[in-house]
Amino acid sequence: MDRKDFLKNSAALCGLALIPSGIIQSCKKQDYSGPNVNFTLDLSQSANAALNSVGGSLAVNGVLIMRLDPSNFSVLSATCTHQGCQLGYNSGMSKVTCPCHGASFNASNGSVLGGPAPTALKKYTATLNGTILTVAG
Ligand code: FES
Repeated sequence: MDRKDFLKNSAALCGLALIPSGIIQSCKKQDYSGPNVNFTLDLSQSANAALNSVGGSLAVNGVLIMRLDPSNFSVLSATCTHQGCQLGYNSGMSKVTCPCHGASFNASNGSVLGGPAPTALKKYTATLNGTILTVAG
């Protein structure tokens, strides 16, 4: 079987309805672009207390909220653009890192710093009014 026949047969398999769901899943393109969100957090609540300290972070609603300095928050998608693993904030290095295959992202703007991630992380807005943080994007 040459390359052209292989591709033709693979495309035909993706069109069959009676093949196992795992194979069908592998034919679908995965979306790791980050969710659309619009929510508020009250930073006076103990569940959100991590965001009251510089270097603190919180993963909620599919986004990673990081307090970069006393007046700035950064909010990025919490899903790695490589294969969808949950990301974490490394405040000491000002990076967002992936535990699966080592991708790293700029914590401020989500750009790829290293590893296999093909694209930057989606960035969201964060506005603090009193103790209410509004996240949208
Ligand atoms: S899923 Fe994050 S580097 Fe592969």
